[in-house]
Amino acid sequence: MIMSVKVKDSSSVMRIGILGLGTVGQGTWKHLVKNSDFWPKILGVELIPTRASVRTLQKVRNIKLDPKQLSTDSQSIVDDPEIDLICELMGGVKEARELTLRAFAKGKSVVTANKALICEHGGELFKAAEEAGVSYCFEASVAGGIPIIKVLRESLVSNDFPLIYGILNGTSNYILTRMEKEGATFSEVLCDARELGYVEADEGLDLDGVDAAHKAVILAYLAHGIWVNLDEVTVEGIRRISNEDLKAAKDLGCRIKLIGVIRRNFTNNHVAVAVHPALIPIEETIARTDGVHNGVCLNGTVVGTVVLTGRGAGQDPTASSVISDLVDVVKNIRGISTMPKLVHVSPTLCSPASPEEIHGRFYLRLLVDDRPGQLAKVADCMAELGISLATVSQTPHENNKPASLILTTHQTNEHSVAQAVAKLEDLPGVMEEPVLFRMFDPDGY
Ligand SMILES: NC(=O)c1ccc[n+]([C@@H]2O[C@H](COP(=O)([O-])OP(=O)(O)OC[C@H]3O[C@@H](n4cnc5c(N)ncnc54)[C@H](OP(=O)(O)O)[C@@H]3O)[C@@H](O)[C@H]2O)c1
Repeated sequence: MIMSVKVKDSSSVMRIGILGLGTVGQGTWKHLVKNSDFWPKILGVELIPTRASVRTLQKVRNIKLDPKQLSTDSQSIVDDPEIDLICELMGGVKEARELTLRAFAKGKSVVTANKALICEHGGELFKAAEEAGVSYCFEASVAGGIPIIKVLRESLVSNDFPLIYGILNGTSNYILTRMEKEGATFSEVLCDARELGYVEADEGLDLDGVDAAHKAVILAYLAHGIWVNLDEVTVEGIRRISNEDLKAAKDLGCRIKLIGVIRRNFTNNHVAVAVHPALIPIEETIARTDGVHNGVCLNGTVVGTVVLTGRGAGQDPTASSVISDLVDVVKNIRGISTMPKLVHVSPTLCSPASPEEIHGRFYLRLLVDDRPGQLAKVADCMAELGISLATVSQTPHENNKPASLILTTHQTNEHSVAQAVAKLEDLPGVMEEPVLFRMFDPDGY
């Protein structure tokens, strides 16, 4: 299948040129095409990925496109008058900077995921975009799929941030999590991480804290309007963390995480940016953010503490942020209100689910009189409705007093369990209305 949409007249389409069709570029192309029916509904225009640049034309890609859409000449895409918007997803600094500035000069807005570029040249690029009257969006550059930049700049606009901290690099978090949970050594987990494609070609970016430092610098700018030079950031990585350290931290009620920390002293307005391993008390959400996940904790002066966690990298999460930026850019260009519509999905697509379709496990507490065979009768009643019990416990009974029977079920559905409760209520020996709770499992919803 060719991953492209049929081109219509120019007023009803925005054509997108993607510089770099690797992990993030392919994800962006794929989801733009997958949702092609949706863009006209919310934007009044189609979003059409039209051309992409790569280093090697021969490389096998997971999405198939017309060979005419691929080029090794990124500049020709930037210059193409048919292309309205640019996504810079090639990485690197020098060429990405030049192409971005060139796009601005041509009056084209740019969406990027390139944290290294923004960290090094953000000041220059932001100014150039402003002067050219175009947008420059970079949600995907910090914490991948987590919409941290939007939350920081828009949702929490009334706040100052004395402290922002969190896990900004999923690879190092993956390594530390496995070392702690499995007792595996740093080099063992690093080998696995390489095989899984989690580690950047330049490993120091992940392991020495540099990638996290790029993101911390961007967050510091967004929160405090100051570009902190990378040389002024304390940057330590995870190479010196041993299994012994992880165990000792655990004994202290903590876990060791590689965190970016941005502090501002509001008395003298000094800002400190650092990336380093730290012992964090286990009850903090960031301490419990594991694997490749990222987590950012924002301490706002008005809202208090807000924590966002989620997938900080990977094809789909990062594409999600890139496309969110694209939608914002198009809204801006087309003068569409940035206030989302009250309902932005099709009002006819979905319909209410029936109780039979809602599955889960349940907890039931029954007050029963202590007569022989009571438990068997309850179990039969459940079995007749196809509900199997996972656990059964009974409080110790004294002097023929009523006893509490606590049952948990295996997977069943709301309809069957409602019928069971009605039957149990009428069962001789059940002394009051059964207490029913859902056992909520977000992984098995
Ligand atoms: N991967 C993630 O999860 C993630 C998350 C957040 C942010 N980011 C950022 O997103 C950007 C892209 O990352 P990625 O993981 O998608 O990288 P990637 O998989 O290495 O893809 C880079 C793409 O750019 C192309 N490219 C590189 N240099 C080029 C050049 N000079 N001219 C034309 N094409 C060129 C490559 O072509 P070939 O395919 O022919 O080599 C490849 O298609 C980076 O800035 C990265 O830091 C990535």
